[in-house]
Amino acid sequence: MKTNVINTPNMNKAKVRTNEATFFMSGATQNNEEISKLLNNKNYYIHTYGCQANVRDEETMRGLLENVGMTQTDSPETSDVIIINTCAVRENAEDKVYGEIGNLKRLRKINKDLVLAICGCMVEQPEILERMMNTFPEVNLYFGTHEIYQLTSLICETITSKERLVSIESKQGEVIEDLPCRRNNEFKAYINIMYGCNKFCTYCIVPYTRGKERSRRFNDVMKEVDELVALGYQEITFLGQNVNAYGKDLDEGHDFADVLEEAAKRGVPRIRFTTSHPWDFSLKMIDVIAKYPNIMKFIHLPVQSGNSEILKLMGRRYTREDYLNLVKTMRERIPGLSLSTDIIVGFPNETEEQFNDTLSLVDIVGYEAAFTFIYSPRRGTPAARMKDEVPYSEKSRRFKELVKHLEVSISKDALSMVGKIYDVLVDGVSKTDENMYSGYTENNKLVHFKASKEDIGKIIPVRILESHTYSLIGEKVNG
Ligand code: 5AD
Ligand code: SF4
Repeated sequence: MKTNVINTPNMNKAKVRTNEATFFMSGATQNNEEISKLLNNKNYYIHTYGCQANVRDEETMRGLLENVGMTQTDSPETSDVIIINTCAVRENAEDKVYGEIGNLKRLRKINKDLVLAICGCMVEQPEILERMMNTFPEVNLYFGTHEIYQLTSLICETITSKERLVSIESKQGEVIEDLPCRRNNEFKAYINIMYGCNKFCTYCIVPYTRGKERSRRFNDVMKEVDELVALGYQEITFLGQNVNAYGKDLDEGHDFADVLEEAAKRGVPRIRFTTSHPWDFSLKMIDVIAKYPNIMKFIHLPVQSGNSEILKLMGRRYTREDYLNLVKTMRERIPGLSLSTDIIVGFPNETEEQFNDTLSLVDIVGYEAAFTFIYSPRRGTPAARMKDEVPYSEKSRRFKELVKHLEVSISKDALSMVGKIYDVLVDGVSKTDENMYSGYTENNKLVHFKASKEDIGKIIPVRILESHTYSLIGEKVNG
């Protein structure tokens, strides 16, 4: 098959950061007869890996595809278009994607006209794209995170040209307000408040795959808040790689605290946000979170390491002491606060002593939840060029020890909830037990309980009866 290359990724271009304007009208929803004629009534299947930014991108893609008359299916076998939306943050996420493409490629033999598309963060990396193109001739469309708005025309081009199409441009990226969205959930919604990242932590690929930090205009965010409130949404999560940098690139005079406060006043029942960088978490934000009962007292505050030297090598811009001081202030000013974090073990040449600092920080903070990772070198990042003497077996041992430490505070927190009543937003039938329903408390604990279909999407009081490390069992409180 011939390949039509419109653009390929380039790590040097991906690093560039300037102040150039970012607002852009895509015209993506304007009626295009040719596209609608070709795609109307076709089926699509989409599988998303990775973080909430990818999930939100999936919702945009669904919006674009359904806008031209396509229908989502949950079976790749009956789909005309298959999209795999990938994650590049660690190697194990990538391996799953290779496995899935390996499984799907047989469908090319059954359906010669199939569009098998790969998008998301993996294809933003030149070596990975090359490897995929060599390994999987069955894939006939690659597009990047910045090309999503062109999705329907790229699919049409692939179908009509019968060529393999590659359109991935490494660039700083835009803010596009005229894209449709078909949300995955009817009562919980994500709102992007900003895109990209300028932090360039030395281990992380995200600033290269998602462009520069760029904020949406305050009024555009609030318009989306109002729409969701009017539709009866119970929970909004503000999204950004680093939400507390919101507004710094605009001259509107609004910061993230203003976003939280204004949304709280507009009556969203539950407000969450992720992710916060400890470096620019302001006192103003802490006080707004404390002040409004509809802002959940749950903060995801990735620490990554408890050792100041490692933090410096990671490019994190804060020391162990800075972080602990911030946590102290947060706990003092926000009663009932739950904290969660991300931690990487085995950063290049991390010593036993430095690792022990992470363990002691974990013990001091007493996290209520955590995500833990073994360092995974990402090609093109500064950390990937560091020579690393620590064997993987040692990293793996440290990882298990870290999890044990974390589980102490997580279990203690869960146990402290037993006997008390918490408001739970009911998600639906439990994934682990079909006789139970499940949902999350305000402090983001998963609870399983008996309820009925009518409770789905409602916030109901649940008494906690039993605690496990990662979930709770409760009973609905009537009246
Ligand atoms: N290796 C391991 N973990 C990583 N993360 C980001 N990059 C890497 C990497 N190269 C983790 C960080 C981040 C979370 C989303 O993923 O902890 O906060
Ligand atoms: Fe990656 Fe650091 Fe940006 Fe988070 S803040 S996305 S870890 S570079």
